[in-house]
Amino acid sequence: MEGLPRPLAAARAIDPFIVMDVMRDANAREVAGEDIIHMEVGQPATAAPRAARERAAAALRDDRLGYTEALGLPALRERIAAHVKERYGVRVGPERIVVTSGSSAGFVLAFLAILDHGAGLGLPSPGYPCYRQILKALGMRPHLIETSGQGRWMPTAADVDRLGTDGASGLLLASPNNPTGTMAMGARLAEIADACRRARLWLISDEIYHGLEYGAPAETALAHSDTAIVVNSFSKYFSMTGWRVGWLVVPDALTRTIERLAQNLYISPPAISQIAALGAFDGIDELEEIKARYARNRAMLLEELPRTGLDTILPADGAFYLYADISRYTGDSAAFARDMLREIGVAATPGIDFDPDRGGSYLRFSYSGSEDEMREATRRIGAWLKAK
Ligand SMILES: Cc1ncc(COP(=O)(O)O)c(C=O)c1O
Repeated sequence: MEGLPRPLAAARAIDPFIVMDVMRDANAREVAGEDIIHMEVGQPATAAPRAARERAAAALRDDRLGYTEALGLPALRERIAAHVKERYGVRVGPERIVVTSGSSAGFVLAFLAILDHGAGLGLPSPGYPCYRQILKALGMRPHLIETSGQGRWMPTAADVDRLGTDGASGLLLASPNNPTGTMAMGARLAEIADACRRARLWLISDEIYHGLEYGAPAETALAHSDTAIVVNSFSKYFSMTGWRVGWLVVPDALTRTIERLAQNLYISPPAISQIAALGAFDGIDELEEIKARYARNRAMLLEELPRTGLDTILPADGAFYLYADISRYTGDSAAFARDMLREIGVAATPGIDFDPDRGGSYLRFSYSGSEDEMREATRRIGAWLKAK
């Protein structure tokens, strides 16, 4: 580093998003000719729905594709508001919808809009790693809340009460959760929303895996709170990861603040992706078929993985992940995942990405790939673990 100015301390404390590191290594092996099964990264193996791609193709041909308004194309904001009404029966005006460059940009906008420098946000652990890294990058404080398998890896109202007394400013909850796929069941979400209201805490609800549930549908926080901030995306259910388009639903009082932030930080989300996203709502039949494949993969893995020796897995309620306890084999999930990739060509993500304290004993498998691949993966894992 000699001769270079010193980088900011905050940025140096940012950990890698390990799943992306694993994906890079797995891709390099694939390019070198190895037969790799990707169970590391949480992305659909499918393209965007046909209607989305057709809209994008027409736009490439006919549109100028300039900047859009910072809060997004008015037609898309309206369509998303209609989607919220159709899906949950909750009415939100299009003026409360903010189109973002993936939910990832939505987090930055939401955190900056409600949290001051140094403020704390409660994050259930295990959880999506970028929450804590984005907070750290912005000079805010992740406040990890340890959850357990018995509680379906969800926080409780008592956890929220503690957050309040510990001086945090809010809670971020994902249901279905990544990496566990579990959901806040029964009255849990309502209780959490009530507890946030009592403790005067912000509630941010990451609803990116909504649409991908295998039993009861997930509830939106909007049904229980007028002040909740909802984060969502076209990446998962809509199978559009690389298009980088998502949305927020925000309380009226925050819209102008977020608009000013979006104007300055990103100008606008990508025009072509917003146009494609409008088309995605016409691809529901296709998307339901993809979801049916996830459901078959999930059922097969829940039956087969225990036979391989990975027998402590909570059946996921949604998303496309299983979080397997590997403590009978190792306490070092990173080394375990590295060996598994090198020796049998199955890529999975070590739990330490999602839970810095206990994640050494867990591995996350994504079942968004093809049924053949998932079956072959269980065959390889079974033979590998038998030899251990
Ligand atoms: C829980 C959760 N939230 C947010 C994201 C970010 O998604 P995107 O920026 O593609 O919308 C992911 C990606 O895996 C995720 O798992």
